[in-house]
Amino acid sequence: MKNVVIVGAQWGDEGKGKVVDLYSSKAEYIVRYQGGNNAGHTLVVNGKKTVLHLIPSGILHPDKVCLIANGVVFDPAVFFKEIESLLSSGAILNAPYERVRVSDRAHVILPYHCLLDAVREAKAAGGKIGTTVRGIGPAYEDKVSRRGIRVADLLDASTLKMKLAHALEEKNVLLTQLYGEHAVDLDALYASCVELGERLRPYVADIKSLLMTALQHRRTMLFEGAQGTLLDIDHGTYPFVTSSNTIAGGALTGSGIGEGAIGAVVGIMKAYVTRVGAGPFPTEIEETEPELAEKIRSIGQEFGATTGRKRRIGWLDLIALKYAVEVNGITGLALTKADVLNDLDHLKLCTSYTLGGNTVYDLPSRAEDLARIEPNYEIYPCWPSYDTKKVESKQDLPEELQAYIRKIEEFTGVPIVLLSVGPGREETLEISDPFQED
Ligand code: IMP
Repeated sequence: MKNVVIVGAQWGDEGKGKVVDLYSSKAEYIVRYQGGNNAGHTLVVNGKKTVLHLIPSGILHPDKVCLIANGVVFDPAVFFKEIESLLSSGAILNAPYERVRVSDRAHVILPYHCLLDAVREAKAAGGKIGTTVRGIGPAYEDKVSRRGIRVADLLDASTLKMKLAHALEEKNVLLTQLYGEHAVDLDALYASCVELGERLRPYVADIKSLLMTALQHRRTMLFEGAQGTLLDIDHGTYPFVTSSNTIAGGALTGSGIGEGAIGAVVGIMKAYVTRVGAGPFPTEIEETEPELAEKIRSIGQEFGATTGRKRRIGWLDLIALKYAVEVNGITGLALTKADVLNDLDHLKLCTSYTLGGNTVYDLPSRAEDLARIEPNYEIYPCWPSYDTKKVESKQDLPEELQAYIRKIEEFTGVPIVLLSVGPGREETLEISDPFQED
């Protein structure tokens, strides 16, 4: 069996949750390798809603091992809240020490990261990013500037206070003098970190070593990407991005696995595009077709699982999708939420942009250019509603949807390996299995 990386091929919220859930049943290890609790999956277990932001949803499959690897920024308070919510809903019966492991190298999100994220967003005159305010950016900043606190540090009370004091020296100046907030109290922070560290101890592991052992025993792995390609810190629509490498390469640096261990990369895409937060969005229709945007939002339930914000709606952008295929090395696409578009008058597909009077076929690097490019569309007829329960092969789909799929495959050069035709687990057409060896 191959190991598979799943990535968002757009701006996040592509419907990864459902695909991860399905693919989790085929893998033994499910690994999160970047981002933090800015992600969100809503799950219904025993009639109770559980929203997971940090723990892979593979936790709901009783025999799977869920790993939170070094590339994740880890908020221990959120982690324990999720464990408690899973226990109280009956989704898990015991503290899952053996099934959820957290990397000793993962960087910790501390309260001052969340505070800084919030005040920067609140006080930004222009140029707000529209972050999830979960402290993600400030935690990654500390990692890169070598001021971060890692999970292993929480377990060593003897050196932790000195490290926290060092971090607070700078943070408290920023908070009090630049942003007019209260200083963070070192003693209180230290006490809560020591307590969280002790609770965390049984979950902490050297994830890279676990993965190497799993590889030797030919265990199958699923690497679960969060957010989406266009939010990647290097390859996304900078600066309106998140602070991690959301592309498939992030699975290597974010977990310690070698490139040869990855057999397939599945890009998740919606039949249309959404974006939450600020930043350029070439095919957005909020202004041009507001009623249609509202209709798609309400049928597709396009509201953030983490913040509840309205997602902005746009037509499928094939230039951006092809870009995602390239930077991730996507070997197959999973198309979700095609049913949301059922019965529309028509569909538009963006197949090039106009920038400064020239036709361009690649994503410009500057946000300023991205904001002023004009999308060029091809118009397609939409498909009528159809009985999703009767779909056993591509040929059972309405001809218009088949044509839409063919266009996506031809333009990007990769096949659609999975089609989600409705919200239910059974409303899924698996065209080929990325885990299977060729
Ligand atoms: P941050 O990751 O909270 O710093 O937010 C940076 C940008 O990424 C903002 O535009 C967020 O709305 C966006 N973002 C972060 N996580 C997600 C996600 O899981 N889905 C969609 N957008 C996200």
